[in-house]
Amino acid sequence: MEFIQVKTYDELSTRAAAIIAAQVVLKADSVLGLATGSSPVGTYRKLAEKYEAGEVDFSRVRSVNLDEYVGLDGENDQSYRYFMNTNLFDHINIDKANTRVPNGLATDLAAECAAHDAHIEALGGIDLQLLGIGPNGHIAFNEPDSVFTAPTHVVELEESTIEANSRFFASRDEVPTRALTMGIGAIMKARRVLLVANGPKKKDTVQRAFFGPITPEVPASILQLHPNVTVIYSEE
Ligand code: F6R
Repeated sequence: MEFIQVKTYDELSTRAAAIIAAQVVLKADSVLGLATGSSPVGTYRKLAEKYEAGEVDFSRVRSVNLDEYVGLDGENDQSYRYFMNTNLFDHINIDKANTRVPNGLATDLAAECAAHDAHIEALGGIDLQLLGIGPNGHIAFNEPDSVFTAPTHVVELEESTIEANSRFFASRDEVPTRALTMGIGAIMKARRVLLVANGPKKKDTVQRAFFGPITPEVPASILQLHPNVTVIYSEE
Protein backbone atom coordinates (compact mmCIF):
# COMPACT_ATOMS: atom_id res chain seq x y z
CA MET A 1 0.00 0.00 0.00
CA GLU A 2 1.15 3.49 -0.78
CA PHE A 3 0.08 6.02 1.85
CA ILE A 4 0.36 9.68 0.87
CA GLN A 5 -0.30 12.27 3.55
CA VAL A 6 -0.75 15.86 2.42
CA LYS A 7 -1.75 19.05 4.19
CA THR A 8 -4.58 20.49 2.17
CA TYR A 9 -7.67 19.21 0.40
CA ASP A 10 -6.45 21.01 -2.72
CA GLU A 11 -3.22 19.00 -2.65
CA LEU A 12 -5.18 15.78 -2.17
CA SER A 13 -7.36 16.61 -5.17
CA THR A 14 -4.36 17.51 -7.33
CA ARG A 15 -2.57 14.25 -6.49
CA ALA A 16 -5.67 12.12 -7.05
CA ALA A 17 -6.52 13.80 -10.36
CA ALA A 18 -2.93 13.32 -11.56
CA ILE A 19 -3.15 9.58 -10.88
CA ILE A 20 -6.49 9.24 -12.69
CA ALA A 21 -5.34 11.37 -15.63
CA ALA A 22 -2.16 9.29 -15.95
CA GLN A 23 -4.28 6.15 -16.05
CA VAL A 24 -6.34 7.55 -18.94
CA VAL A 25 -3.30 8.86 -20.81
CA LEU A 26 -1.63 5.44 -20.58
CA LYS A 27 -4.79 3.54 -21.51
CA ALA A 28 -7.29 5.66 -23.44
CA ASP A 29 -10.13 3.15 -23.06
CA SER A 30 -9.65 2.70 -19.31
CA VAL A 31 -12.49 1.47 -17.17
CA LEU A 32 -12.78 3.87 -14.24
CA GLY A 33 -14.68 2.95 -11.10
CA LEU A 34 -16.09 6.20 -9.71
CA ALA A 35 -17.36 7.38 -6.35
CA THR A 36 -19.63 10.16 -5.17
CA GLY A 37 -19.72 12.02 -1.85
CA SER A 38 -17.83 15.11 -0.84
CA SER A 39 -14.30 13.65 -0.91
CA PRO A 40 -13.85 13.30 -4.71
CA VAL A 41 -15.47 16.63 -5.65
CA GLY A 42 -12.11 18.42 -5.82
CA THR A 43 -10.57 15.55 -7.76
CA TYR A 44 -13.35 15.79 -10.36
CA ARG A 45 -12.88 19.57 -10.59
CA LYS A 46 -9.16 19.08 -11.27
CA LEU A 47 -9.91 16.42 -13.89
CA ALA A 48 -12.26 18.84 -15.65
CA GLU A 49 -9.47 21.45 -15.60
CA LYS A 50 -7.06 18.94 -17.12
CA TYR A 51 -9.59 18.17 -19.83
CA GLU A 52 -10.06 21.91 -20.52
CA ALA A 53 -6.28 22.30 -20.76
CA GLY A 54 -6.15 19.51 -23.35
CA GLU A 55 -4.10 17.26 -21.09
CA VAL A 56 -6.48 14.31 -21.08
CA ASP A 57 -9.08 12.88 -23.44
CA PHE A 58 -11.99 10.93 -21.94
CA SER A 59 -13.71 10.08 -25.23
CA ARG A 60 -12.89 6.37 -25.02
CA VAL A 61 -13.17 5.99 -21.23
CA ARG A 62 -15.84 3.74 -19.77
CA SER A 63 -17.00 4.23 -16.19
CA VAL A 64 -18.99 2.40 -13.56
CA ASN A 65 -20.18 3.90 -10.32
CA LEU A 66 -20.13 2.35 -6.90
CA ASP A 67 -23.64 2.98 -5.74
CA GLU A 68 -27.03 4.66 -5.99
CA TYR A 69 -29.90 5.31 -3.61
CA VAL A 70 -32.97 3.12 -4.06
CA GLY A 71 -35.95 5.21 -5.11
CA LEU A 72 -34.19 8.23 -6.63
CA ASP A 73 -34.18 8.80 -10.37
CA GLY A 74 -31.27 10.35 -12.21
CA GLU A 75 -32.98 13.75 -12.43
CA ASN A 76 -33.24 14.00 -8.64
CA ASP A 77 -30.47 16.33 -7.49
CA GLN A 78 -29.60 13.97 -4.63
CA SER A 79 -29.16 10.95 -6.88
CA TYR A 80 -25.67 9.77 -7.59
CA ARG A 81 -26.35 9.85 -11.36
CA TYR A 82 -27.13 13.56 -11.03
CA PHE A 83 -24.01 14.05 -8.90
CA MET A 84 -21.81 12.39 -11.52
CA ASN A 85 -23.31 14.38 -14.38
CA THR A 86 -22.97 17.72 -12.64
CA ASN A 87 -19.61 17.17 -10.93
CA LEU A 88 -17.78 15.41 -13.74
CA PHE A 89 -19.48 14.06 -16.84
CA ASP A 90 -20.93 17.40 -17.99
CA HIS A 91 -17.44 18.95 -17.83
CA ILE A 92 -15.41 16.40 -19.78
CA ASN A 93 -15.78 14.64 -23.13
CA ILE A 94 -16.86 11.25 -21.78
CA ASP A 95 -19.73 9.68 -23.71
CA LYS A 96 -22.53 9.30 -21.13
CA ALA A 97 -23.58 6.12 -22.94
CA ASN A 98 -20.30 4.71 -21.65
CA THR A 99 -21.07 5.54 -18.02
CA ARG A 100 -23.06 3.28 -15.73
CA VAL A 101 -24.56 4.20 -12.36
CA PRO A 102 -26.80 1.55 -10.77
CA ASN A 103 -30.45 2.25 -11.49
CA GLY A 104 -32.14 3.17 -8.22
CA LEU A 105 -35.57 2.95 -9.82
CA ALA A 106 -35.20 -0.61 -11.11
CA THR A 107 -38.33 -2.61 -10.34
CA ASP A 108 -36.26 -5.77 -9.92
CA LEU A 109 -33.38 -4.69 -7.70
CA ALA A 110 -31.77 -8.14 -7.64
CA ALA A 111 -31.67 -8.15 -11.45
CA GLU A 112 -30.20 -4.64 -11.45
CA CYS A 113 -27.43 -5.77 -9.07
CA ALA A 114 -26.65 -8.75 -11.30
CA ALA A 115 -26.67 -6.48 -14.37
CA HIS A 116 -24.17 -4.12 -12.73
CA ASP A 117 -21.72 -6.94 -12.04
CA ALA A 118 -22.26 -8.43 -15.51
CA HIS A 119 -21.53 -5.03 -17.04
CA ILE A 120 -18.25 -4.72 -15.11
CA GLU A 121 -17.27 -8.24 -16.22
CA ALA A 122 -18.15 -7.43 -19.85
CA LEU A 123 -15.90 -4.36 -19.69
CA GLY A 124 -13.05 -6.60 -18.59
CA GLY A 125 -13.02 -5.37 -14.99
CA ILE A 126 -12.06 -2.03 -13.49
CA ASP A 127 -8.64 -0.53 -14.22
CA LEU A 128 -8.75 2.09 -11.48
CA GLN A 129 -11.30 2.32 -8.69
CA LEU A 130 -11.66 5.64 -6.89
CA LEU A 131 -13.06 5.38 -3.35
CA GLY A 132 -14.02 7.58 -0.44
CA ILE A 133 -14.45 6.17 3.04
CA GLY A 134 -17.38 6.59 5.40
CA PRO A 135 -16.85 7.60 9.03
CA ASN A 136 -17.70 4.00 10.01
CA GLY A 137 -15.15 2.58 7.55
CA HIS A 138 -17.63 1.78 4.79
CA ILE A 139 -16.52 1.70 1.17
CA ALA A 140 -19.23 2.19 -1.41
CA PHE A 141 -22.22 1.34 0.81
CA ASN A 142 -20.66 -1.80 2.23
CA GLU A 143 -21.55 -1.13 5.84
CA PRO A 144 -19.88 -2.75 8.87
CA ASP A 145 -21.09 -6.33 9.01
CA SER A 146 -20.10 -9.79 10.14
CA VAL A 147 -19.10 -10.79 6.60
CA PHE A 148 -17.67 -9.16 3.47
CA THR A 149 -20.29 -9.30 0.68
CA ALA A 150 -18.77 -9.82 -2.76
CA PRO A 151 -21.45 -9.07 -5.39
CA THR A 152 -23.41 -5.87 -5.99
CA HIS A 153 -26.29 -5.94 -3.54
CA VAL A 154 -29.05 -3.94 -1.84
CA VAL A 155 -28.19 -2.53 1.59
CA GLU A 156 -30.12 -1.02 4.43
CA LEU A 157 -28.09 2.06 5.32
CA GLU A 158 -26.80 2.38 8.87
CA GLU A 159 -28.20 5.12 11.09
CA SER A 160 -24.78 6.78 11.15
CA THR A 161 -24.62 6.81 7.34
CA ILE A 162 -28.14 8.25 7.05
CA GLU A 163 -27.12 10.86 9.60
CA ALA A 164 -23.87 11.67 7.74
CA ASN A 165 -25.67 11.94 4.39
CA SER A 166 -28.55 14.01 5.74
CA ARG A 167 -26.36 17.09 5.27
CA PHE A 168 -27.11 16.88 1.56
CA PHE A 169 -30.91 16.65 1.99
CA ALA A 170 -33.50 19.22 3.10
CA SER A 171 -34.39 17.01 6.05
CA ARG A 172 -33.22 13.74 7.55
CA ASP A 173 -36.53 12.08 6.65
CA GLU A 174 -35.79 12.57 2.97
CA VAL A 175 -32.60 10.48 3.06
CA PRO A 176 -33.30 7.14 1.39
CA THR A 177 -32.77 4.20 3.72
CA ARG A 178 -31.67 1.71 1.07
CA ALA A 179 -29.05 1.74 -1.65
CA LEU A 180 -27.62 -0.44 -4.37
CA THR A 181 -23.91 -0.93 -3.84
CA MET A 182 -21.07 -2.59 -5.61
CA GLY A 183 -19.78 -5.33 -3.33
CA ILE A 184 -16.29 -5.99 -2.08
CA GLY A 185 -15.68 -8.41 -5.00
CA ALA A 186 -15.53 -5.94 -7.88
CA ILE A 187 -13.60 -3.44 -5.74
CA MET A 188 -10.98 -6.03 -4.80
CA LYS A 189 -10.73 -7.17 -8.42
CA ALA A 190 -9.99 -3.61 -9.61
CA ARG A 191 -6.43 -3.50 -10.89
CA ARG A 192 -5.70 -0.35 -8.91
CA VAL A 193 -7.51 1.31 -6.02
CA LEU A 194 -7.22 4.99 -5.10
CA LEU A 195 -8.86 6.04 -1.83
CA VAL A 196 -9.19 9.68 -0.85
CA ALA A 197 -10.00 10.83 2.68
CA ASN A 198 -9.81 14.27 4.19
CA GLY A 199 -10.30 16.04 7.47
CA PRO A 200 -9.74 15.27 11.13
CA LYS A 201 -13.03 13.32 11.29
CA LYS A 202 -11.57 10.70 8.93
CA LYS A 203 -8.22 10.38 10.69
CA ASP A 204 -9.31 7.69 13.12
CA THR A 205 -11.25 5.85 10.38
CA VAL A 206 -8.19 5.76 8.12
CA GLN A 207 -6.09 4.57 11.05
CA ARG A 208 -8.52 1.72 11.82
CA ALA A 209 -8.93 0.76 8.16
CA PHE A 210 -5.30 0.65 7.11
CA PHE A 211 -3.35 0.11 10.31
CA GLY A 212 -5.77 -2.07 12.29
CA PRO A 213 -7.04 -5.64 11.96
CA ILE A 214 -8.75 -6.78 8.75
CA THR A 215 -12.39 -7.23 9.66
CA PRO A 216 -15.82 -6.77 8.00
CA GLU A 217 -16.60 -4.53 10.98
CA VAL A 218 -14.35 -2.02 9.18
CA PRO A 219 -15.12 -2.81 5.52
CA ALA A 220 -12.25 -0.73 4.08
CA SER A 221 -9.75 -2.85 6.03
CA ILE A 222 -10.04 -5.52 3.30
CA LEU A 223 -8.03 -3.16 1.09
CA GLN A 224 -4.95 -4.10 3.12
CA LEU A 225 -5.05 -7.33 1.07
CA HIS A 226 -5.23 -5.53 -2.28
CA PRO A 227 -1.91 -5.53 -4.17
CA ASN A 228 -2.17 -2.00 -5.58
CA VAL A 229 -3.77 0.56 -3.26
CA THR A 230 -2.95 4.24 -2.93
CA VAL A 231 -4.46 6.15 -0.01
CA ILE A 232 -4.30 9.94 -0.02
CA TYR A 233 -5.17 11.56 3.27
CA SER A 234 -5.25 15.30 3.88
CA GLU A 235 -5.49 16.88 7.30
CA GLU A 236 -7.68 19.74 6.10
C1 F6R B 1 -20.00 7.26 -2.49
C2 F6R B 1 -19.64 6.17 -1.58
C3 F6R B 1 -19.44 6.39 -0.12
C4 F6R B 1 -18.59 7.61 0.20
C5 F6R B 1 -18.41 7.75 1.71
C6 F6R B 1 -17.65 8.99 2.09
O1 F6R B 1 -20.16 6.78 -3.81
O2 F6R B 1 -19.56 5.10 -2.04
O3 F6R B 1 -18.80 5.25 0.40
O4 F6R B 1 -17.35 7.52 -0.42
O5 F6R B 1 -19.67 7.76 2.33
O6 F6R B 1 -18.42 10.11 1.79
P1 F6R B 1 -17.82 11.58 1.87
O7 F6R B 1 -16.76 11.68 0.84
O8 F6R B 1 -18.98 12.48 1.58
O9 F6R B 1 -17.29 11.72 3.27
